Amino acid sequence: MVKIIVTDVAGDSREIEAGEGMSLMENIRANDFTDLAAICGGCCSCCSCHVYVDAGWYSKLQQPEEDESCLLEESDFNVEKSSRLSCQIEVADFMDGLKVTLVSEV
Ligand code: FES
Repeated sequence: MVKIIVTDVAGDSREIEAGEGMSLMENIRANDFTDLAAICGGCCSCCSCHVYVDAGWYSKLQQPEEDESCLLEESDFNVEKSSRLSCQIEVADFMDGLKVTLVSEV
């Protein structure tokens, strides 16, 4: 299991035990974070799994594919340089200690 620190929209942080091979989105939802809607179920078509990745971690993750980058660019959801779609990040053991923040859609 991989420890990931998730901060919700209200600013409350909690450490979760994430399963490798599952997406970050699936792991966050499995730990009852209701701020992450993930409406499309991980098909990279809704942007409702948007997270900010901690600055020290962003460059350590695989870079976003073109469809993820395009979706974020077209989104109105408070996109920043550290934005990622959590359904497009597969959890791996090197991510132990990863910090992400859920993003409000409004
Ligand atoms: S769950 Fe829809 S883009 Fe990630």
